[in-house]
Amino acid sequence: MKILAIETSCDDTSIALIEAKGNPLSKNNSGNWRIKILKNFVSSQIKVHEPFGGVVPTLAKREHIKNLPILWKRIVKQGKKADLLAVTVGPGLEPALWAGIEFAKNLAKELNKPLIGVNHLEGHLYSNWLVSGKKNPKFPAIILLVSGGHTILLKMDSLTKWKKLGETRDDAAGEAFDKVARLLNLPYPGGPQIEKIAKEGNSKSVAFPRPMLRDKNYEFSFSGLKTSVLYYLRDNPKTNKADMAASFQQAVLDVLIGKTIRAAKEFNAKSVLLCGGVAANKTLRNALKKESVKIGAEFFAPQFKFNTDNAAMIAAAAYVQKLRKKKYRLVAKGDLNL
Ligand code: KG4
Ligand code: ZN
Repeated sequence: MKILAIETSCDDTSIALIEAKGNPLSKNNSGNWRIKILKNFVSSQIKVHEPFGGVVPTLAKREHIKNLPILWKRIVKQGKKADLLAVTVGPGLEPALWAGIEFAKNLAKELNKPLIGVNHLEGHLYSNWLVSGKKNPKFPAIILLVSGGHTILLKMDSLTKWKKLGETRDDAAGEAFDKVARLLNLPYPGGPQIEKIAKEGNSKSVAFPRPMLRDKNYEFSFSGLKTSVLYYLRDNPKTNKADMAASFQQAVLDVLIGKTIRAAKEFNAKSVLLCGGVAANKTLRNALKKESVKIGAEFFAPQFKFNTDNAAMIAAAAYVQKLRKKKYRLVAKGDLNL
């Protein structure tokens, strides 16, 4: 089945075409499907939002409306052969989501093809199945989804059966990176910037708190950590930026890794999976891999280009969704969850 997917939930406009084979819902699950990515175009709006220090929803919408036809033009010949169209309906910025939904609806009408709505978070979950030729994760699996809008820890018993163990009570991990980057006068988006300068710094130089690390639950909270950085900067304005970034990053990673590994141990996970934009952080990937292997779990993280928002992962989620006949309304839903 060829699937054409559209993603516009935040500040990346993306269109992808994939070819999906096999049945992910078969008894031995997970192992029995393959995704071939035929095209995956992502058009970033970083330059547009950078002067504002964050994503401006109305500008994001305007840019999506401008970019979608341009990306479609690059894919049109092969795209017309798609059997199914899919579009992200949430969570995300509603004006941005609507741009994708309206475009997809018109395209579906024009091509006379079925169209389904997809949950962006399911896209991130299935981004770990986008690497064809590699073996698929075994269940039970613990998945840490860390993006700009979400921080969720899940236990997956099969490709379609998962339980949320916990999530953030306030800021998401990526959001914390972005906000602390702003405090350090680094450009938007802050995550990659913090990671970059952290390499030059000493992660032990400032002892920031590890929020909720010792709590016997799988919830997270990052807004207090951000405030600690703010106060520390106010009281020690001469502190080296790189040391601040490294110490902050280490505090976030200690919490994320500590809780993920504890869950993996508690549920005897065969695999530990990482996904979402923050999964692009190499320090996090490497450290979580090391800790997973130590407890006998196999570690998975998507290829770099599939960590941050992209339509290929939306197409993969659409395939699973289509086979299990799960439906989302073709209406933007900013607060959709898993
Ligand atoms: O998944 P994503 O592209 O969009 C959402 O669904 O939110 O995630 C974007 C988030 C941003 O907060 C960005 O700063 C963060 O992922 N991010 C990173 C890195 N690359 C992107 N955070 C830490 N280290 C990185 N290398
Ligand atoms: Zn995302």
